[in-house]
Parts: sequence; structure tokens; C-alpha cells
Amino acid sequence: MTDSSAAQQLQSRYGISDVLRFEAGPHGLLRAKVITPQAQAELYLHGAHVTHYQPRGEWPVLFLSAHSWFDAVKPIRGGVPIVFPWFGRLAGDASAPAHGFARLAEWRMESTAQAADGSVTLALRLGEADATHAAWPHEYELRYRISVGSTLEIALDVKNHGTRTISFEEALHTYLAVSDVRQVLISGLAGTQYLDKTDGARRRTQGTEPIRITKETDRVYLNTKTTCIVDDPAGDRRLVVEKSGSDVTVVWNPWIAKAHAMPDFGDTEWPRMLCIETGNAADHAVTLPPGRVHTMRATIRSAPR
Ligand code: BG6
Repeated sequence: MTDSSAAQQLQSRYGISDVLRFEAGPHGLLRAKVITPQAQAELYLHGAHVTHYQPRGEWPVLFLSAHSWFDAVKPIRGGVPIVFPWFGRLAGDASAPAHGFARLAEWRMESTAQAADGSVTLALRLGEADATHAAWPHEYELRYRISVGSTLEIALDVKNHGTRTISFEEALHTYLAVSDVRQVLISGLAGTQYLDKTDGARRRTQGTEPIRITKETDRVYLNTKTTCIVDDPAGDRRLVVEKSGSDVTVVWNPWIAKAHAMPDFGDTEWPRMLCIETGNAADHAVTLPPGRVHTMRATIRSAPR
């Protein structure tokens, strides 16, 4: 089937006239475009990857690199990659893809709907038959719901279909678009312990002041439940990340040298992004008994200062 006939099939089954359209994007990757009076968004079936969210009258809330590959065997750089079932490198297997396979897999559409308030919800699914069972030999099912309205709501369900307890890491690796990362102030993580990945995962404790980004920053904040607020004075807005079912918040900006080293990221793009990731990893990997479902949710919104 050609990319455009696959898009047409999706359109006839899941499209919503004037509001939700399916099409073949760069390199034929299938994507959904949402346009409502409240907001616009884009989502690729590759990785169930939200690449764009823009409430009406605002500039985009998510950063997307102009250098991203849009390649079926590589992750998209920016938006909201889904990290599952391991965070970062898989211990003991250097050949396993960083951040797991969910962001590399082709997800299936399950349903779409428009609510009375005008928001549009898309649901996608990934099961063990769809992904690399060899890399993670467990019986599981992922469901991802994206609701596009005056806020962006994303929720990842992991179901254990097997007979043994499973353990996994996960993240909704949100790339926020900021005017200048050197000027933002991040609040919501005061006094929290974190692993500093720029210093051999050394444990440190965050002070009481809001966080400023002054160098490469790669921190896994532990035992976090609170909302993070990114105050962006140059952008004259606050970006708010509220969450549930998540005990870890990752704060990442590659800064100059790492940006330069990443082939799918522009050398001068680092000031315009900041990842505030909603996750469960390290001390807070999820342990899920047979038959149970774990849900992690993030709600992202832009608010006036
Ligand atoms: C963050 C990690 O979550 O993702 C960083 O903490 C990593 O260590 C970053 O560099 C980007 O990862 P990737 O695999 O998308 O380049």
C-alpha cells in the first residue's frame, strides 16, 4: 500500500471532518493533524509522537528540531518522544536502542473522538506483537491517549498481560519551546534529590531557589509529584507541566558541545528548548503485577506570567 492510500484509509476510519486529518508527512511517515478553534497539533504514528501543539493565539508549546530525521528506524527529535521500557541506555546491552523501542515503533490508531468542549482525543496502541519482543520478552500492551484542547493531555497506560510481574522505566520526554533557556526559571523541584547524569549520576539535592540553566543539564529528579512551572520571561509566558502516576522528573538541555555532537539537532537550537520529562526511572522504575494497568499522565499548558 502506498503512503497516501494508507493515509486515506486512516482518514476514512478515524478522520473527523474539518478537525482531524490524516496524511503522509516527510518520508511518507503517517501523521494526524488536528485543527480546532482551541488549538492545533500533529502526531506521527511512528512512535505515537506528538510533534506540535499550539493553543490558538499562542506560539508553539513544543520544540521540534529542524534537523530531526523523519525516518522509520530513528526517533524524531523534539515534541514528545515516548520512552519505554528503559530510560537511557539499557544496562548490559550497548546495541539496544537508547530510551527503548516505543519511540521507534509504528503504533496503531485505536480511536478518535471530539468532545463537547471541542477537544479532540486520539488513542493509539502498541502490543508486544508490534514491537521487538526479543528485546523485551514480556506480554504487555501500551495505550496512549492524546487530548488536544486548551491544554495538551497525554496519558500512557501499560498493561501487564503476562503471568509474571514486570518492571519497566518510561517517560513522556516533553521538549518545551522556550525563548532562551538561559533566562528561564524552573520551579516545582525545590529540595528534591536528583541524579546528575553530567557527573556520573552523582546524587545531589536541589536548593530552594528556582532552577536556572547555565550549562549542560541532565538531571533525574527523584520522588517528584508536583507540578513544574517554566517561567519564560522573554516569551512572556509560563509553561506548566502537571502530572500523575509519575515519580521522576527529568530536566535536560544539551547546551553547546552536546548539541554539536547530535547529528539530528542544530548547533544553535539548544537555547530554544528545555525538556521537562514526566517519568518513572532509576529508583522509581515501575513494578507491575500480572493483569494490572499503570497509568502515567501529563498535562501541558501555557499560562500568562
Ligand atoms: C534525556 C536523557 O532524557 O534524553 C539524556 O536524560 C539524553 O541523557 C536525552 O541525552 C536525549 O536522548 P536521545 O536518545 O533522544 O538523544
